[in-house]
Amino acid sequence: MKEEFKKLIKEAEKARKRAYTPYSKFQVGAAVLCADGKIFTGCNIENASFGLAVCAERVAIFKAISEGSTKFEAIAVIGDTDKPCSPCGACRQVISEFGEDIPLIMANLKGDFKIKKIKELLPEAFGKNDLL
Ligand code: THU
Repeated sequence: MKEEFKKLIKEAEKARKRAYTPYSKFQVGAAVLCADGKIFTGCNIENASFGLAVCAERVAIFKAISEGSTKFEAIAVIGDTDKPCSPCGACRQVISEFGEDIPLIMANLKGDFKIKKIKELLPEAFGKNDLL
């Protein structure tokens, strides 16, 4: 695996420790590598009103966008899962907004990983062109 992808997993793992998950106890971390070289991280943040939980991937992406980094090279997600942690459907849709070729690095704490492009994870996604 590319060194920069290994670093991204490490950053996601660090962010995971900051997850706010009093309800599910399931901690997820994410890290986005931007074209300007910056890395933004995220963790899942839950709420007593359960439906308001926000996934780690979206926290990382929204941090990047709101700080002016809008081109993504890769996104890593990590959880304490048996197989590499797979992003939820809502996060796939949000990621696909910014490019269907973005590699998604899925990882777990045991060191397993899998890399797929977002278009493989969300084929025939609804996108901006559908609105024209
Ligand atoms: N979660 C993520 O952070 N990312 C995903 O892609 C899947 C699910 C979080 C949301 C919730 O806090 C917990 O994992 C259990 O669903």
